Amino acid sequence: MHAIQTFDLTKRYGTRAVKSVLAVDRVSFVVEQGQVFGFLGPNGSGKTTTIGMLVGTIKPTGGGFDLFGASGPEGLLNARARVGATLETPNFYPYMSGRDNLRIAAGVKGVGRPRIEECLELVGLSARAKHRFKTYSLGMKQRLALAATMLSDPELIILDEPANGLDPQGIREIREIIRTLADRGKTIFLSSHLLAEVERTCSHVAIIRNGRIVTSGAVAEVVGGGSAVLLRAEDTDALAGAMEAYPDASSMRRTGEGVIAALESGDLASVTRYLAGHGIYLSHLAPYRPSLEEVFIDITRGAVDPMTEIAS
Ligand SMILES: Nc1ncnc2c1ncn2[C@@H]1O[C@H](COP(=O)(O)OP(=O)(O)OP(=O)(O)O)[C@@H](O)[C@H]1O
Ligand SMILES: [Mg+2]
Repeated sequence: MHAIQTFDLTKRYGTRAVKSVLAVDRVSFVVEQGQVFGFLGPNGSGKTTTIGMLVGTIKPTGGGFDLFGASGPEGLLNARARVGATLETPNFYPYMSGRDNLRIAAGVKGVGRPRIEECLELVGLSARAKHRFKTYSLGMKQRLALAATMLSDPELIILDEPANGLDPQGIREIREIIRTLADRGKTIFLSSHLLAEVERTCSHVAIIRNGRIVTSGAVAEVVGGGSAVLLRAEDTDALAGAMEAYPDASSMRRTGEGVIAALESGDLASVTRYLAGHGIYLSHLAPYRPSLEEVFIDITRGAVDPMTEIAS
């Protein structure tokens, strides 16, 4: 069963043709229950707009979506009772403690005290719960927002850049919370710019660019789809020159490690033979798996082939 399904979801801001912005353009993806789904894209690519439509703060101008299979105003209203979302840092009261802020949020949601303590525990704020919100670090504020989101024990958690602006320690804390939630069987849909982070925490990703999905799937699929190899030889210049001319290499680039080439046939024996024929003897030849960041940079800058040269 899926938690989210969008079909040709579209949002155009403004009605006047000249001034309107097509922020989200026929976006279709499926998030299955239990997935940790990373929604990646450069600034202005339409992530927040998509999330806004899912949580109901932005009205689509085309296409649609369902949550847990439910659609239509009434269906979505019911389904959203199973959804928790953190969009921006919510309006907490600065002079009240973290715990009292959660009590207020819990009162609105009709949630009892034990659950407040559980949520504080989940985000690692139990020891600081009696301190005033205004004394919290940015990371603590973001974790309190997560705690507020978790009060109603949602099955689907939607987060817009949950680790935005945090230092490595803060990012790690968020990562651990997301992992804990995933271990408890929650479905998590998060937007992010932190590619290494998404690669570590997410099972699935979709990459959006100019409002359109350019690739999506399991993380391993998205980064491991090609048949790339890493080659090394004593004379890197000669190796790079030869590979550039090699007909089976659809793309190639140099890195500090050697030469990375995408082979159309994946035939390693032929590469070795070809290079030897040019007087180049390999000291290293191994499959190469690009990082999600490399794939992302290639795709979002407009390259069709994820193996074309990457700015390092
Ligand atoms: N209320 C609005 N009115 C008009 N245009 C908008 C509005 N909100 C967003 N946009 C435009 O829609 C596009 C997508 O914006 P959106 O905020 O969804 O991107 P994003 O991927 O979340 O970016 P970021 O990574 O910077 O948060 C941008 O061109 C933006 O300028
Ligand atoms: Mg945004």
